[in-house]
This record gives sequence, structure tokens and C-alpha cells, in this order.
Amino acid sequence: MKKGLRNWRLFSLFGMMALLLAGCGKPFLSTLQPAGEVANMQYSLMLLSTSIMVLVIVVVAIIFVYVVIRFRRRKGEENKIPKQVEGNHKLEIIWTVIPIILLLILAVPTVAATFKLADVKPMNDKNRDKDTVVVNVRANLYWWEFEYPDYGIITSQDLVVPTNEKVYFNLVASDVKHSFWIPAVGGKIDTNTDNKNQFWLVFDQKATDKAGGVFYGKCAELCGPSHALMDFKVRPLPRAEFDAWVEKMQKAENPVVTDPVAKQGEEIFNKSCIGCHAVSPVDNRPEQARTAPNLAGFADRERIAGILEHNEENLKRWLKDPEGVKPGNKMTGTYGQLTEEQLDALTKYLMSLKVE
Ligand code: CUA
Repeated sequence: MKKGLRNWRLFSLFGMMALLLAGCGKPFLSTLQPAGEVANMQYSLMLLSTSIMVLVIVVVAIIFVYVVIRFRRRKGEENKIPKQVEGNHKLEIIWTVIPIILLLILAVPTVAATFKLADVKPMNDKNRDKDTVVVNVRANLYWWEFEYPDYGIITSQDLVVPTNEKVYFNLVASDVKHSFWIPAVGGKIDTNTDNKNQFWLVFDQKATDKAGGVFYGKCAELCGPSHALMDFKVRPLPRAEFDAWVEKMQKAENPVVTDPVAKQGEEIFNKSCIGCHAVSPVDNRPEQARTAPNLAGFADRERIAGILEHNEENLKRWLKDPEGVKPGNKMTGTYGQLTEEQLDALTKYLMSLKVE
């Protein structure tokens, strides 16, 4: 009876663990399904360090259990003290040398990987190859800007990159400290206000296909009430498609609106929104002037405000009450007083901003 109960407990514990761990398995979000060179390196280091830790725990636990049983107080031997060993050279050497060896096994690959992951020489070469892709990432409360300095284009919230090659990043923040993290692909790295951080990532094509073409990006530094909602999406494309996207973005300039309702929306936009939001990916204003996400290609985005499913209903919900969707965000203005009709027009206009 007792044994049955214990088995049942063990079974339900494993069941719960399985359910819990099943949440870790999403290929677009999981560090346990590495999707590129950097993620692979970080994953191997994780496995190595975890194995060493488990080994140490197991050995210590075995010795502990042995000692507890072997030297427990026995009936009739209450006052017996086992042989006391002090200053045993052999033992002292063993338990000094073993941790040193373990630390070396951990340190050598870690230091090597650290230097390899920090090698950003190609991006800082003054005459860098035109094919070296560099993205300037700027983190803001609570949105992301992605600027491609070599192509003269800017986008936000959706990061587009070529697959199977190194993509280099310059990372800064414009208000408080954030952290740039694409769990399945690598990172994370802080974005600071007072210095620029640099690193590179590789987006594996096969892993991209497996993830359904989109990876999830996260802010990994507590930055305010909507920190957990400060998401972005990554769309890695084969090189040729990436080049085509860049070309389309460069040619997009200002959108031409023909639909009469959308036209009305454009007027509202030009009155209320354009002070902060640009709609052309070619935005030459200095970054202090770019106080809100660039909306070029807004209709092609993965999410509304980085988090809501991309549809008209959610766009209206966001326009009506940004504070309710993302507490503490900087989108404050008079559009909260727009009539339903005006909201419809603005929505129609925003949903017409296509690049692809
Ligand atoms: Cu930005 Cu957390």
C-alpha cells in the first residue's frame, strides 16, 4: 500500500515536470534549441557547465550518504569516536587538485568562446565589405529601433536579417538600460545609454524554417512596468530575399494613399502622429528626434505594439488606450479622444502602410 502511494507520487511529480519542461520547447523562443553559431556555442557551454555541476553534486551526495550510514551512532557504541584524520596529505591534494581540473575544463572553452563571440573587427573596419551587415539597435521604453546604416533605412519592432552569415550589431539605449535578447539565436547583451555595445549573431536557415520564419526577441533587463511586454520579432531571410527587402525599403519613401477613408486617416495622422512617427524608412532625422517607432511597412508587421496579434481590432484597441495595453509607455497624446469614425480612418491608413 505504502509503496503504491510512493510510486503514485513519483509518477505525478514526473508528470508535472514534463508539463513544465514542455513549455521550454518552442523552436522560436528556446535557448535549448539553438538556432545559429552563437546559440550553439552558448548551448555547449551550458551543457558543459551543467554536466560538471551535476557530476560534483552526485559525487558529494554519494560520499555524504556513505558517511552518514557508515559513521552513524550505533546502539552500544554511543561514546565511540571514529579515527580522527587531520592533515592527510593525500586527501588534501585530491580535493584541491580535482576542483582545479574541473575549473580548467570549464574555463578554457568559456574564455575561448568569450573572445570569439566578442570579435567584432569586421564591423569596425573603416573599409568594411559592403556585404557585411551591420544593424544599429536602439532600445526605448518599450520599443526597438533597427537602423541599417549602410543602406540608409530604418525600421522598428521587426528586425529583418539575412540567414547563414554573421550579422553585426551596435547596441544603445535612449532612456534607461535595456537588454537585447533573441533566446533561440543568442545574446543577451545590455543596451546602455552611456556606451555602445557590439556583438554578432548568426541566424541559421534550417532553424529559421523550423521556427516558422520568425524568432521572438525580448528585453532582458527590468526597465519599467512594461518590461515584460517589450518584445520584438526577428525575420531572417535568405540573402537574395534580404537584398530585395532592402531595395524595397530604400524605394518605399512616403506611401501614396488612394482609398478615401485611408486618405482621411492620413490627414489625422499628419495632424496628430507625424511629430513622433515617421512613415518612410528613409529617415534622416537625428536619433533624438526619432522619439517613436518608424511605421514604414507597418501593415507587414508581426504584432501591434510588439505584443498584440496583428489585426484592425487590436490596432484600434491600442490607439484608444495605449496605457491599458502597455503601462508606462510614451505614447501619450490627443488621439485618445478620436471618434470611432476617425479611429476607423486612422486604422485603415496604418494598415495600408506596406513595403512588401
Ligand atoms: Cu526594456 Cu526591459
